Amino acid sequence: MSKHRVAMVGTLRPGLVAALTERFEALELADIDPADAETVEVAVTSGGWGVRVEHLDQLPQLRAIVNHGVGYDTSDIAEARRRGIVIANTPDVLTDCVADVAVGALIDVMRGLSAADRFVRGGQWAAGQEPPLARRVTGVRVGILGLGRIGRAIARRLEAFDAVLSYVARSEKTDVSYTYAASPVELARGCNVLVVAAAGGEQSRHLVDADVLEALGPRGFLVNVARGSIVDEDALVAALEAGGLAGAALDVFADEPHVPAELLSRDDVVLLPHLGSATVETRADMAELAVANVEQFLTKGTLVTPIDP
Ligand code: DGY
Repeated sequence: MSKHRVAMVGTLRPGLVAALTERFEALELADIDPADAETVEVAVTSGGWGVRVEHLDQLPQLRAIVNHGVGYDTSDIAEARRRGIVIANTPDVLTDCVADVAVGALIDVMRGLSAADRFVRGGQWAAGQEPPLARRVTGVRVGILGLGRIGRAIARRLEAFDAVLSYVARSEKTDVSYTYAASPVELARGCNVLVVAAAGGEQSRHLVDADVLEALGPRGFLVNVARGSIVDEDALVAALEAGGLAGAALDVFADEPHVPAELLSRDDVVLLPHLGSATVETRADMAELAVANVEQFLTKGTLVTPIDP
């Protein structure tokens, strides 16, 4: 029996490509000729790429998009929905790894671990110098922007550090004891560390702006493991340069893989290459879930993890 043809949009991870190619005739969209493109019902993409209108126009029979990753803000979801196309992402399997990175980054920036590593490698310790004192993590006041799956997993981990937790979400949650804040400014005003764990997209663009950073203040830290678009990077650079913020730990940026040049030389900033889900185990689980979505859609017409359940 011939394999179903599936379009791959963007440069996908080798593990995902291998898993797709094993089960389907998985072809990069650019390599599919227009006649064959008319038979494609499923496209697979990743959060770093996305399926946009120009891709949709090349795939007139497309019925489903499978996004490898939990964030799908790079795809034109509104237009896909308008065309009756359903969308899946890969939630849950990456929650723990992203939450681990958030907590690791928080500890790193507060205790100055990456900076201290540079200090040792740079020979300053051997030369008799002392690194600056850092800040205590235990008992820290943490505000979480977005209390979805990942935000909750971050909060659960921080409970073990006796953190005092508050959050902003679309609505107040009845199943947590953390303090609800009505706005990002109110959240920032009441915490030492603001952790961004909200979904990306137009609705959250620059939610962390100059006002929020000012409310966080010169002793406050920012941690972002969600999407770079949520933070106004110019305002962040300005706040750091003016001494208006103690530091930032960032796994995501507005224009990846480009990082604002002003941040590169700062010791009060931890810079990570969007590695939240980047473990062998989680990437394998994500690929498996993406393939399961494609398979189920092609055999039953339904998705395992639709974004609109
Ligand atoms: C995702 O899957 O959207 C996350 O950015 C992983 O780090």
